[in-house]
Amino acid sequence: MHHLISLDKLDRAAIEAILTRAQTILECGPKPDALTGRTVLNLFFEPSTRTRTSFELAARRLGATVVNFDTTRSSTCKGESLVDTLHTLEAMQVDALVVRHPDNGTPALLAGHAAADTHIINAGDGNGDHPTQGLLDALTIRQTHADLGDLKVVICGDIAHSRVARSDIHALTTLGVGEIELCGPEALLPSADQWPALARGADFDAAVAEADVIIMLRIQAERMASETLPDAAAYHRAWGLDARRLALAAPDCMVLHPGPINRGVEIAPDVADGPQSHILKQVRNGVAARMACLLELIQPNC
Ligand code: NCD
Repeated sequence: MHHLISLDKLDRAAIEAILTRAQTILECGPKPDALTGRTVLNLFFEPSTRTRTSFELAARRLGATVVNFDTTRSSTCKGESLVDTLHTLEAMQVDALVVRHPDNGTPALLAGHAAADTHIINAGDGNGDHPTQGLLDALTIRQTHADLGDLKVVICGDIAHSRVARSDIHALTTLGVGEIELCGPEALLPSADQWPALARGADFDAAVAEADVIIMLRIQAERMASETLPDAAAYHRAWGLDARRLALAAPDCMVLHPGPINRGVEIAPDVADGPQSHILKQVRNGVAARMACLLELIQPNC
């Protein structure tokens, strides 16, 4: 593995190797000097709380130097192309660039122009991929369910605009999850040619029945052009996860959400903060999953 752009190119063994490495880090702690002398640069063209901070912590806890590139004050605002920016940063001997961008394909574009010893990591591109979120979600589910084969996983919300859904679906199907069902308003469901084998529909009560895992997604208004959606209260009634709905799922059904959460819209506060919520565990696992990815790319024998 030289770049991490999408999970699509990773088979089950490769995904399991990263998850096992992340789990070992959680249990034994990271090797604090594994990346000493290496430099990781965060290049985020979209807002981020969890992903950027956890990449920074992951790199620092492994001993790397971290630079948070301020895209709002960089020469990209003066018209410098992204590829020229890449070559400029490479001349300063950056080992890995963690890239988030609103346009699909930007991390892949940079990987295509990167020098042989530069690693590009996709931290979310448009509604394309979010590979480390897919890995940390799989890690979180695997901690509770060693065997994923019998699970029913429901993903509910704005699936059409979600890079998280895309990476989760790839990770979970590759790891053998038995059943994945997609739910949300018609306008936010993926097109029929995407994941044709997966059940989909607008009836959330029906979808959650017997679910072992429910992954809730935010409405990503920033990626919408013209979709008409119900107001927040009506959305919550139809597609919000509240205690009544959660009770329809399997006992101890896991509740996941990549964040940021919009309380009272896609998830009720008592569910977000309740005993079945794994949302903060996802955040904790995110640091370990990102450490595992940085090691896999930069220092695989460490
Ligand atoms: C997600 C993202 O940016 O794709 N958040 C995250 O990385 N934790 C989901 C979202 O923004 O809704």
